[in-house]
Formats: sequence, C-alpha cells, structure tokens
Amino acid sequence: MTMGKSGKGLEGVVAAQTALSDIDGKQGKLWYVGYDIHDLADHATFEEVIYLLHHLELPNEAELGRLREQLAADREPHGFVMDLLPGLAQRTQPMEMLRTAMSATQADDPDGEDNSEEANYRKAIRICAVVPTLVAHYDRLRNGLEVVPPDPNLSQAANFLWMLTGEKADDETVHMFDTCLVLHADHTMNASTFSARVSAATLSDIHSAIVAAICALKGPLHGGANEQVRRMLDEIRETGADPRDYLKGKLERHEKVMGFGHRVYKTEDPRATHLREMAKTLAEKTGEPFFWETSRALEEAMMEEKGLHPNVDFYAASVYSYLGIPEDLFTPVFACSRVSGWTAHVREQYADNRLIRPDHEYIGPQPRSWTPMSDR
Ligand SMILES: CC(C)(COP(=O)(O)OP(=O)(O)OC[C@H]1O[C@@H](n2cnc3c(N)ncnc32)[C@H](O)[C@@H]1OP(=O)(O)O)[C@@H](O)C(=O)NCCC(=O)NCCS
Repeated sequence: MTMGKSGKGLEGVVAAQTALSDIDGKQGKLWYVGYDIHDLADHATFEEVIYLLHHLELPNEAELGRLREQLAADREPHGFVMDLLPGLAQRTQPMEMLRTAMSATQADDPDGEDNSEEANYRKAIRICAVVPTLVAHYDRLRNGLEVVPPDPNLSQAANFLWMLTGEKADDETVHMFDTCLVLHADHTMNASTFSARVSAATLSDIHSAIVAAICALKGPLHGGANEQVRRMLDEIRETGADPRDYLKGKLERHEKVMGFGHRVYKTEDPRATHLREMAKTLAEKTGEPFFWETSRALEEAMMEEKGLHPNVDFYAASVYSYLGIPEDLFTPVFACSRVSGWTAHVREQYADNRLIRPDHEYIGPQPRSWTPMSDR
C-alpha cells in the first residue's frame, strides 16, 4: 500500500464514527451533538456541555443539578496525588505534572478495576472534576503558596479561578472563562482525542486513555500552540519589533507561526471568532491594548502573506493573558476543558469498539540475509 502526500498524517482518513462533534471546514462550522458552537458559546455553560457530550442531550434542571453536585464532590484529589503534587510542582513542567498526576489519580479511584459502562461514567466525571484542581494546586505550590480548597458552590470556571488566585472573580470574568471552556470542549478527531481513542480501543482503562490524550495535547502543533503564541507576543514586545516585519521574518525563515493554520478549517475557525471578540473586550476592560493590537496586526499580515486564518489557540493566548493566567498554564487550561470531550470519546469508543490498527507503507531495505558479527 502506498501513501500519497495528502495521506501523510492520516489527512482525510475517517478514523472513527462519532456522535459528539462535527466540523465543516469549508464553511467554518462546528457542532457539538448537533448544536452550533455559536449557540453554545452564547448560551451554554461548561457544565451543560459536559452533560451534552456524555448524554447526547442537554440536561433539564434536575439533571444539571446532579452533575454539578457530582463535579463538586469529586474535585479534591485523593491523598496519594496530594502527596505527589509538591514534588511535581518543584520538578516538572505543568503538562508533565498533569500527565503524571492523571496517571496517579487512577490509584485510589473508588471504582478501581471496574470498567463497566456505569463505572466509566463515574470515572469520567471524576476526571473532569479533578483536572482543574491539579492545575490550580500545582501553580500555587510552585509559587510557595497554600493550596486553595475547591468551593463546592462554584461552577467549574469560577472554582478554577478561585483555586488559582484565592480570590473570587467577578461575574464577567467567570462568564468569559466559562465560554473559553465551552469553546475548547470537543473537536472531532484531533490528535489528543484520537490518541485517547486508540488507547481505549485496546480496552485499556479510561485513566490510561486520558494520559495518552494529555501527552498528545502537550505538543506545540496541538494544545501547546497557545503558549507559543504568548511567547511570540512577548518576543515582539521585548524586541520592539513591528509585528508585520516580525511575521514576514518568520515566514522567510520558513518557520511556522503558532496559532495559524488548521488541518480541517480552510476558513475562519468559529471558535476564533468568539475568542477574538473576548480579547478585544478584555483589552478595553484592562486598558492594556498590546496583546489585542499585536494579534490583530499579526492576523492581518498572515492573511496577506499566506492566506492563513488564526486557529483556536491564537486569540486564546491573549484572552488567557488578560485573565491573568500564567502562560505555561495555557495548555493545562485547554486540558481542563478538552477532558470533557476526551472522556466522552473514550466512552463512545468502548460502546462500539474495534481495535484501531492502521496499515503502513514500508520504505526500508528489501529483505536481506543476516551476517553474524564475527564475519562482518
Ligand atoms: C495546525 C497545523 C499543524 C496543520 O498542519 P497540516 O494540516 O499538516 O498543514 P501543513 O503543515 O501541511 O501546512 C500546509 C501549508 O501551510 C503552511 N502553514 C500551515 N500552518 C502554518 C503556520 N502556522 N505558519 C506558517 N505556515 C503554515 C505550511 O508551511 C504548508 O505550506 P507549503 O504547502 O508551502 O509547505 C499547522 O497549520 C501548524 O503547524 N500550525 C501552527 C501550530 C498551531 O497553531 N497548532 C494548533 C492547531 S489548532
């Protein structure tokens, strides 16, 4: 079997069926379980999206209330993980911490080795609940601060900001962060989701599948791009470079400009539309136009030079910066949201499983005979 250039990276290959999300890359459309991302961004809370992804329907009030209670009850990591966190905060980068802590989270899961559908749902919600706590506790520990226990009365968004800063964020800030979580929750067969499904398809457990997803999200061509965008903005600020000249220089050196381009979207990524608007609002609110103005200049220059649109990570970098989130937490914050999609995809994979095992094109030497060492 041979692979054309377009086949490289599994482009265009249908790797799985899913009822969770769908993309029209030409029209710039994204749906979660049939709901347009624009409607979800305008109206849904992150908790409603978690419910939607796991039940394929929006919740009524009682169902949403139950999910909120479950999430609130499961936020605190158990003792084994809490004991690990101070060492991880000293010795590891944020995504390395998340990878290791997620793996350790399996140890004391109350459902243990039970991989039934019911147990996997409970594990999925526990995983969604605990990831933001791991990130917030890690950040406080590495800064020599006391961890802030989760507040069961707060939403996932409000509680994360509370645990991170020890201060209650205002309603507008919480709303914006909640919208960020909604926008990042699922995105069809992206690299981290695919990794989770490949792992689940071997009938490995859900924690292992989420570790695999975290490993894939970490890379700069996927979730790591948002952090790289912030580094680029910092570099422009520090050097005083003109954003257009900076961008042209990168392209002349054949460097990728982080936050642009997408495998599927050939037009505006609908998530970027919302994040651009939020970045603008926050620039005005904070009176700090740098991230917003520089991003706009980069966006215009990239469109002129390469015809490439910004992706979800581009304006997310400005939004998270304005919200005061440390730059190396941008990718872990992405994980706080995408874990809802990962866990739903893992459950979907288990429900109709077949081992994922693609074929290959061999490009090595033709069969040859072995020469023992002494005669070589
Ligand atoms: C997202 C991404 C990995 C998609 O990769 P892909 O589908 O394999 O697309 P390719 O890398 O083959 O890109 C196609 C062309 O556009 C160019 N291109 C794509 N993204 C680019 C970028 N961010 N900067 C500069 N050029 C880019 C490629 O150089 C290539 O040009 P060529 O045909 O002249 O060689 C890629 O666009 C990228 O690396 N973007 C930056 C990282 C990023 O923001 N990732 C987050 C994604 S949500």
